[in-house]
Amino acid sequence: MSGLKLDNPVIPASGTFGFGYEFAQLYDINILGSFSFKGTTKEPRFGNPTPRIAECTSGMINSVGLQNPGIDKVISEELPKMKKCFNKKVIANISGFSVDEYVYTCEKIDKEEQVGLIEVNISCPNVHGGGMSFGTSCEAAAEVTKAVKSVTAKPVYIKLSPNVTDIVKIAEACENAGADGISMINTLMGMRIDLKTKKPVVANKSGGFSGPAIFPVAVSMVYRVYEAVDIPIIGMGGVASPENVIEMMLAGASAVEVGAANLIDPFASKKIVEGLPDAMKKYGINNLKDITGGAH
Ligand SMILES: Cc1cc2nc3c(=O)[nH]c(=O)nc-3n(C[C@H](O)[C@H](O)[C@H](O)COP(=O)(O)O)c2cc1C
Repeated sequence: MSGLKLDNPVIPASGTFGFGYEFAQLYDINILGSFSFKGTTKEPRFGNPTPRIAECTSGMINSVGLQNPGIDKVISEELPKMKKCFNKKVIANISGFSVDEYVYTCEKIDKEEQVGLIEVNISCPNVHGGGMSFGTSCEAAAEVTKAVKSVTAKPVYIKLSPNVTDIVKIAEACENAGADGISMINTLMGMRIDLKTKKPVVANKSGGFSGPAIFPVAVSMVYRVYEAVDIPIIGMGGVASPENVIEMMLAGASAVEVGAANLIDPFASKKIVEGLPDAMKKYGINNLKDITGGAH
């Protein structure tokens, strides 16, 4: 994959794997290709009011609200703990509410040796731009990409929101602005209503829908973006099995992230890594590197 060498393509997704050490108590996380740590912002964030989770058929809604200790504490406290249990490069997932915040955080994370790649989550509201998410406008997505690229030498992957009219156009705008890769997809906007209270289940009313139910949406979006850009794609959305990893790669992903599945079963990513050789054998695949975009 452009900018980061992985010995396997399985990467737990941001927000579902903490800073790694929580899962290292359960198994040796060095079997993973890498992992993307919890979305980090300039300032510490307490997150949204509870309840923040709603169950759905084959998926879940979350409105965690980017709870994190802020970039300074991530660097001084979380990264050293992570380093003790993970000896590969990690993916830093960065969020911001203005271009300046993205720049500030990426400039700081650029100096961290253990970070091999920066994944820039643009599904955040732009507080100086009327509150619309950076990820829903080609101009805003390109502006963040350019700004971040100018302050880091690390590979920058832009993580796209699926809540747009045409995700292909946003991906192209990021590529033209200098992105080294695309990460996709983030959660789809969703809501559940409690029939007893007759009110939305999550306090924030709506949240991000993810899990197996969104897998076909993600495959289709990855497939279309692969045809439009020349930079690598990290594919995600509903991946829960080794077969899903292979399918996502055939659509166009160079590596694959696993999100909600880690919350259903903390061993999900481990089981996917361990199950890959058998799945490859079953489908006559000798080398996963050769199958990216194979469905085109
Ligand atoms: C509880 C939870 C927290 C998340 N937090 C983040 C985050 O901080 N940054 C981010 O870019 N994506 C975040 N995501 C999105 C996931 O990384 C992933 O893009 C999405 O859930 C789709 O994958 P999945 O269907 O496998 O869950 C979060 C998802 C969940 C379920």
